[in-house]
Amino acid sequence: MSTAPKLSGDVKDLGLAERGKRKIEWANQQMPVLQLIRKRFIKEQPLKGVRVSACLHVTSETGNLAITLRDGGADVVVCASNPLSTQDEVAACLVKDYGIPTYAIKGEDNATYYAHIAAALDHKPQITMDDGADLVTTLLTKRTDLVGDVIAGTEETTTGVIRLRAMAKDGTLRYPIIAVNDAMTKHLFDNRYGTGQSTIDGILRATNLLMAGLKFVVAGYGWCGRGVAMRAKGLGADVIVTEISPVRALEAVMDGFRVMPMSEAARLGDVFVTVTGNKSILAAEHFEKMKDGAVMCNSGHFNVEIDIPALEKMSSAKRPARPFVDEYVMKDGRKIYLLGEGRLINLAAAEGHPASVMDMSFANQSLSVEYLLKNAAQLEKQVYPVPDAIDRQIAKLKLESMGIQVDKLTPEQEQYLASWDEGT
Ligand SMILES: NC(=O)c1ccc[n+]([C@@H]2O[C@H](COP(=O)([O-])OP(=O)(O)OC[C@H]3O[C@@H](n4cnc5c(N)ncnc54)[C@H](O)[C@@H]3O)[C@@H](O)[C@H]2O)c1
Repeated sequence: MSTAPKLSGDVKDLGLAERGKRKIEWANQQMPVLQLIRKRFIKEQPLKGVRVSACLHVTSETGNLAITLRDGGADVVVCASNPLSTQDEVAACLVKDYGIPTYAIKGEDNATYYAHIAAALDHKPQITMDDGADLVTTLLTKRTDLVGDVIAGTEETTTGVIRLRAMAKDGTLRYPIIAVNDAMTKHLFDNRYGTGQSTIDGILRATNLLMAGLKFVVAGYGWCGRGVAMRAKGLGADVIVTEISPVRALEAVMDGFRVMPMSEAARLGDVFVTVTGNKSILAAEHFEKMKDGAVMCNSGHFNVEIDIPALEKMSSAKRPARPFVDEYVMKDGRKIYLLGEGRLINLAAAEGHPASVMDMSFANQSLSVEYLLKNAAQLEKQVYPVPDAIDRQIAKLKLESMGIQVDKLTPEQEQYLASWDEGT
């Protein structure tokens, strides 16, 4: 049953659980909206008996989400959505103290990563919760026997939503999915302020570079890119943006950044961060031009934004320079550094997003699951936005938790905004 402690899962060391518990409790302090939802879930049990498989970055914030779902009555299992982002102590605590089977080990190889996804699918989920769509893709390609059990799903991030929309378009998606990423209370805050701060945090923890005066190249000026560029500028870096979208490039220019093609930026940059969700943003032609000592990292999805196979081919030697820093010696003697094996640097070398932004993302996750259980029968096999009422409620609760009040429309103002003939 959902709340019975089960010591199953695959974690690094259950002895780490006590540290994980303190970490989860610390994050919980910064997650007041999720706390409120958890209190209501405990009382109302809206997820009673529902099997949920959650493929997420196994961090202290995710720990609080999993506990909230469990306390709402769900039978939850968790697996990693990224081989490098697991906090082993959190995974241990979820298994040992909360009886939530968790399959995640930081640094797991590809085979273990997919074995963990398979284990989460063996749970026969009725709700899938994904971050990057690996769980859903595996289910829909290799475990089609399980599709009949699935009621609906949620997706946390931009790249996952893109993959799922492509599936919906060609008719491969077999059940409705809510794109949590598209909620305003998710991407406006999580992607911008969360990725912005934690990406810089990851770079600094890995390298201890002085940001002031660095030529800092940000590839992609989406929500994540804006956040990274804004924070790098705040620390005194000289930020250069690369883009393919004229609108976003224009926005970057008007926000005060230099914009140029990567072929030019490659020569100038001291540090490069990719946040595009696209592949081969930094490739052979760029590695050829980079300065000796250039540092590259990725904070978009997967490890494909930097063409690592090309880098391996072009270099004559490779060695670890520091934790999370690999030094590649190019054939002409230049050294180029790759952080976190090209995977999300904010999760590999730092702790991912601060709990305060994950509060809103995971409030969206929890309320979306509740909504889907009530409404999935009326939904098509499509990707849906988070209902506006949920988005607004989360913003309201977050403001309240910060002690901030906002104005309300007066009846006169409401009438003015609703009419087309006033104010002429
Ligand atoms: N690190 C994290 O914790 C974290 C958090 C949220 C999202 N993400 C990931 O970050 C990526 C970006 O997310 P977002 O919300 O900013 O997406 P977004 O769609 O708002 O922005 C991506 C931007 O990259 C640009 N782009 C695409 N191809 C490019 C190219 N070849 N060169 C330059 N720019 C290019 C697009 O025009 C767009 O403006 C996604 O993969 C998402 O899954 C990571």
